[in-house]
Amino acid sequence: MIQALSTQNISTPVLSVNLNKVALLRNSRGGVLPDPLQAARVAIDAGCGGITLHPRPDLRHARPQDARAMRALCRNVELNLEGNPYAGAGDRYPGFVPLLLECRPEQATLVPDGDAQLTSDHGWDLVTEAGRLRPLIAQLRDAGMRVSLFMDVDSPDIERAAELGADRIEIYTGPYAHAHAFGDAGAALDACARTAERAHAVGLKVNAGHDLDQHNLGPLLRHVPSISEVSIGHALINDALYDGLDLTVRRYLQAISAAA
Ligand code: PXP
Repeated sequence: MIQALSTQNISTPVLSVNLNKVALLRNSRGGVLPDPLQAARVAIDAGCGGITLHPRPDLRHARPQDARAMRALCRNVELNLEGNPYAGAGDRYPGFVPLLLECRPEQATLVPDGDAQLTSDHGWDLVTEAGRLRPLIAQLRDAGMRVSLFMDVDSPDIERAAELGADRIEIYTGPYAHAHAFGDAGAALDACARTAERAHAVGLKVNAGHDLDQHNLGPLLRHVPSISEVSIGHALINDALYDGLDLTVRRYLQAISAAA
């Protein structure tokens, strides 16, 4: 099996806790509970290194106001805002790039998701999108943000992410998680490792996210120890329903350090 082992890229991965699902629950009642900010405080106190939100134009979970409030809260941990950089202004939504420029998160993760998508389910095609993305990436980096591009494993465009000026890629780990759930993750792990190696070879750091949980996180990090950050929401909030958010975040952190 292949392992991505570039030693200069190895440090304990940061856990960025995605709080979209807390906002989704709040929005279902139209009130203020549960409060994503309170959840962020608990996650930060438990030791996570970052908070992620994905404020979509349809406002179905995290909203622009959540991003602004989270910006004010996240002073000692990283704020990561995910979204489609082409999402324009709408009712109570300023557009994703204007929101980024207002909030100035430490990291902007650019995702090619459509409005109708339930969740992000594929990475960028950087041949088609190079012309539009290059100036946007430059604009965000000039404003002080690290830019990460959501990419499929074995995409022919991994190297192109560096050419376009990105700092990182985020490997879409949905297919790996699916393979792991079916007990046959070897090929998917190799694909993640190959993809990470190609990214490191052109100077990119590597994040990972989607469908990661307490069971599949360790095998991924042991196989691809050069991953810099994992962004985890759905499974982590699921676990928190039973075990509490504080304990759950600590368990994910334990899984990360056990793998490191
Ligand atoms: N990374 C990206 C780009 C995402 O869109 C999401 C979902 O918001 C995640 C990571 C986290 O995925 P999950 O909720 O399955 O942990």
